[in-house]
Amino acid sequence: MKEVDLVIRGARVVSPEQIIDASVAIAGEHIVAVGHDDTMPPAREEMRADGLYLLPGAIDSHVHFRDPGYAHKETWRTGSAAAAMGGVTTVFEMPNTHPATGTVEALRLKQKAAEASYCDFGLHGLLGDDTVDRLEELLDAGVTSFKAFVGNTFGNLPAPTDGALLEGFETLAPLGIRTVVHAENSSILFRRQQKLKDAGRIDALAHLAARPAVAEIEAIGRVLTLAEWTGARVHIAHHSAADSLFLLREAKRRGVDVTAETCPQYLLLNTDHMLKLGGIMRLNPPIREARHNLPLWEALMDGTLDMIATDHAPHAPEEKTRESIWDCDCGFPGVETQMPLMLTEVNRGRASLMDYVRWSAVAPAKAWGLYGTKGVIAPGAHADIAIVDMERAGVLSQNRLQSISKISPWNGRPVKGYPLHTLLRGRFVMREGRLVNEAVGWGRSVKPVQKMPAARPRNTEHYSSAILQTPAGVPRTAVPQGEVDWSQA
Ligand code: NCD
Ligand code: ZN
Repeated sequence: MKEVDLVIRGARVVSPEQIIDASVAIAGEHIVAVGHDDTMPPAREEMRADGLYLLPGAIDSHVHFRDPGYAHKETWRTGSAAAAMGGVTTVFEMPNTHPATGTVEALRLKQKAAEASYCDFGLHGLLGDDTVDRLEELLDAGVTSFKAFVGNTFGNLPAPTDGALLEGFETLAPLGIRTVVHAENSSILFRRQQKLKDAGRIDALAHLAARPAVAEIEAIGRVLTLAEWTGARVHIAHHSAADSLFLLREAKRRGVDVTAETCPQYLLLNTDHMLKLGGIMRLNPPIREARHNLPLWEALMDGTLDMIATDHAPHAPEEKTRESIWDCDCGFPGVETQMPLMLTEVNRGRASLMDYVRWSAVAPAKAWGLYGTKGVIAPGAHADIAIVDMERAGVLSQNRLQSISKISPWNGRPVKGYPLHTLLRGRFVMREGRLVNEAVGWGRSVKPVQKMPAARPRNTEHYSSAILQTPAGVPRTAVPQGEVDWSQA
């Protein structure tokens, strides 16, 4: 048998269906064998992993690495180091940088910044009124997917009009490309926020008051209507409210290709924490009342919500701790803490490790066209593996985060279950709990391995691209030609 690079022995390999005792052989960037210890080929390096679990590296559909434009908040080097330390091997990065990822020139700047990445990545391009005519160009230049900020966002990108969103979906439906949507109704938010400001409220709960769940319900409903009409694939970002889950359930039942994420903060935090932590917890959509937590868990369990993402949204500590809630930037880091937080819940019996792998790796791999190459520990797949110790306990500390943004609502939270080593395409990017500095730049775009299955575009006869020419046989003007015979009309 040919010698391979690494054999990991004695571990438990996790998939959504089962946990098996197995060894794993890795040659170059790929897994070449998963099976009984005796069947493993000779290896340059052997590693014992007794008592540890091998999880497909987590795929985080929603991170903000801020470069270009806001490198004082995060860079690709620091953000992707956080990913590596958190067992995350692939991220999808958001376009609200400066410049926003809505032109090929801006995309080139981001691709350059991403050369320092410790993890593989997809890049969401911006879908807005100004970019909707360039989507194919952006895809050709390397974006994997799109993001529409149908609400307000850091960077003050204007929400796309419904008309532009519809056109974008018409362009993307036949291509099978999925669009992430930040689903909040911007006019509700802006009006309420102004009212609250005028009334003099500056407390943390005013942020929630400005963004009632109905803003999420309305926006999700609207986006699903457009997606269903066109056949476009959509992905609902950071689902936060119990009240909007019914829309996902019904749309999925009707066959709409919608996927949805929620984040640890919506599952585990609520207004009780907001009262203590104030502006640190300001993010969009807001963290809501405790009554939302349990229904979101149930929705993950029954598949209404597909996956866990983090919305890793780093800001500088001074940008998060201002007196008025309206002056605190929205978002906080999360890509490094997701796995220990969720493994802690697995240890508490809230879900199984198989459930977790479905949410953290398998569902996102499928949503973005990577499954088979990523999201699974099997021969032929990339050797992207988080090696996890479910017994290891500790306390999350914001000062130890790789992120520049050393301010986190998870600071001081006890956890049990940590990634110990992270492998990306056969190479350790984190080993024994330490970042492997030399692996900087090992990460690369997933675009070359992305395969979106063919979609089913619908109502194509009404697509904006199909209506620009007067159809054959129809008079060129609206003025009746000659005398109209009403008995024939
Ligand atoms: C995000 C950011 O800071 O870029 N903030 C947030 O509160 N979630 C933007 C976003 O995801 O909408
Ligand atoms: Zn975000």
